[in-house]
Formats: sequence, structure tokens, C-alpha cells
Amino acid sequence: MLTVAVLISGGGSNLRALLDAAAEPGFPARVVVVGADRAADGLAHADAFNIPTFAVPFREYATREEWGDELLRQLEAWAPDLIVLSGLMRLLPAAVVDAWAPCIINTHPAYLPEFPGAHGVRDALAAGTDRTGASVIVVDAGVDTGPILAQERVPVLPGDDETTLHERIKPVERRLLIDVVRRIATGDIDLAAPASPNPTAPTA
Ligand code: GRF
Repeated sequence: MLTVAVLISGGGSNLRALLDAAAEPGFPARVVVVGADRAADGLAHADAFNIPTFAVPFREYATREEWGDELLRQLEAWAPDLIVLSGLMRLLPAAVVDAWAPCIINTHPAYLPEFPGAHGVRDALAAGTDRTGASVIVVDAGVDTGPILAQERVPVLPGDDETTLHERIKPVERRLLIDVVRRIATGDIDLAAPASPNPTAPTA
């Protein structure tokens, strides 16, 4: 049984979808802890499933590195097999990525390498494109540059704003995330040798 820690910053709708999937008999992974960089509303989803939570409020630390060191202590205490970033709106310090790579994956509301970073939905709208997407990637030292594990196109419709487009992307993200976690748990995906490296990933 693969053990998973999920890190969030917001409402956690993608986390909720993973919790619902993991509650199904036969799902090969279970969420053992949910952490946040603030008092995130999404922690309530973990409470609903009696799953432990922790918060390491970014604003209480003088530097990103000090925040990262406490986050690292929390993660090492729970020792999950996999860390899922699902709406964590923070870049992880190198110390955290180095300690856990490649066992950290991230969901992103764009068709990477298109529109990386914190505003993928807004950037797709600004670009005037008629399609964007959702991606699940391995977290590496870059910003959304890790190997792509799964991605799918999502249409941008006339009249879309950031909210309507993001709400069309999220169900795709959730389905991809659940499938990727399942495939990691069954060994179908080997994070140490992902099948399709992200073309923008820095060459080794
Ligand atoms: C998701 O689209 C995630 O990819 C992005 O922020 C959103 C989080 O949504 N980084 P939620 O908190 O899971 O509802």
C-alpha cells in the first residue's frame, strides 16, 4: 500500500477527489497526512476522513529555507512513499526537493510546458488560446519543468474567465492525479525513470 502525503494551500478540491478515490476498496494507495503552508480550508477534507494534518505557516518563518526545514521535519516524521503537491502555492526549497526527489509529484492547470508557474490558467486566457490543459509532473529543481507523467487538453471556450476555465480544468486534473497515483502504487509508473521526460527539463 503506497503511503501518500498531500500538500495544499487552498480549498483542496483536488485533494478531496484523491481522498474519495483512496477510500474506494482496492485503491492501492492511502493518504496518511495532509500538510499546508497556511491554515488552508482544504485541511477540513482531511479532518472529514480522520486523516492527520499539519500546517507550517510560511509567514511565520524568516526565510523560505527555514520554512522548508520545518516542512522537511514534518515530512520526515510521516515518511510517506510519495508526496503530492495539489494546489500548494509555494515553490519548495531545494533542500526539500533534494531530500524527496523523485517522489514528489505536482498537478498543474495547464498543458506543460505551456504556461508554467503560479498563474497557468490566467496566462492561458491572456494568450488567447482556444485550448489549454492539465498536467501531472515529477517535481524537480525547476518551476514546473519536471518529467510529465500525464497530461490532457482542455478547451478554452468563448466567454471563459479564470474561474470558469479553472473549474473546467480541475476535474481533468483530478482524474489524471488519481490515475497517476494508482499507477505509481502499482509500479506501472517508475518515478526514477518516467516514460516521457518534459522537453523543457534541463538536460542532466
Ligand atoms: C489546482 O488547479 C492546482 O493545480 C493549482 O491550484 C488548484 C488547487 O485547487 N495549483 P484546489 O485547492 O485543489 O481546489
